Amino acid sequence: MKIAVAGKGGVGKTLIAGTLARIYARKGYHVLAVDADPAMNLAYALGIPPEVSSNIVPVAENSSLIEERTGAKPGSAFGIFFSLTPTVDDIADKYGVVGPDGVKLLVMGTIRSGGSGCTCPANSLLSALIRHITLRRGDIVIMDMEAGLEHLGRATARGFDALLCIVEPNAPSVETGIRIRRLAGEIEIREVLFIGNKISAGEEDYIRRALGEAGLELFHTVPFDQNIIRAGIMRIAPIDYSPRSPAILAIEELGEKLMGRLMANLTPTYKR
Ligand SMILES: Nc1ncnc2c1ncn2[C@@H]1O[C@H](COP(=O)(O)OP(=O)(O)O)[C@@H](O)[C@H]1O
Ligand SMILES: [Mg+2]
Repeated sequence: MKIAVAGKGGVGKTLIAGTLARIYARKGYHVLAVDADPAMNLAYALGIPPEVSSNIVPVAENSSLIEERTGAKPGSAFGIFFSLTPTVDDIADKYGVVGPDGVKLLVMGTIRSGGSGCTCPANSLLSALIRHITLRRGDIVIMDMEAGLEHLGRATARGFDALLCIVEPNAPSVETGIRIRRLAGEIEIREVLFIGNKISAGEEDYIRRALGEAGLELFHTVPFDQNIIRAGIMRIAPIDYSPRSPAILAIEELGEKLMGRLMANLTPTYKR
């Protein structure tokens, strides 16, 4: 299953993507976490120590890989030739690192698009890499996306099973969410699910109403939780810092609901 996480900057995409990845890995799934945000801080939420994450070479900066696979030098136009079909397991062995609970992390890096859109080899290689990953039963890809659903995001998230659209209790983040929802419709994502994050008492109603006016539903909420902030100050992954704190428990619950929803989609309907 391929799950993308999007939303306005600062809404909690990285917290939710990283924590969900750990939770699914603990349940026994093979999880590939993909950091597609140029800010590249998914390693933190996964609990990968800085001395390891600082040595990761993002795929976008791996120029020999880009040249080998696309036949083009970074920065030029090209055609892509994907000779092998990478699996969740071998993709991180080759290009990424393995973190706590066995979560594999692939860091995409920053794409410098040269004005005229995104036809550069690095960008297409990243998209192709994600699109061509083969998933066996029990494989999960979770992609932490850049704010909004820009070029790279749209290309890489094409055909994902679900897009978690994270919103905070304020109008700009809900508006961004609604815009993302519209863009997601263009790239064949089956489920776009709205998640309210950093919710304090009474604020859930605001989000429900704001989404409701656009004909949308709120799928799940994660409370505002001081422990998440403290974890950030200590530079400890929130799931390690306070595993039973309210936000982490709510993300666990989200994981179960999401799995239930995606499994229901997979179940064939038999006709008599
Ligand atoms: N439920 C929450 N309660 C309190 N603080 C939160 C919560 N979720 C996220 N944060 C804080 O908000 C900030 C942005 O979160 P982050 O996951 O990095 O967002 P994004 O990836 O969307 O930019 C971080 O400092 C994080 O600690
Ligand atoms: Mg982030």
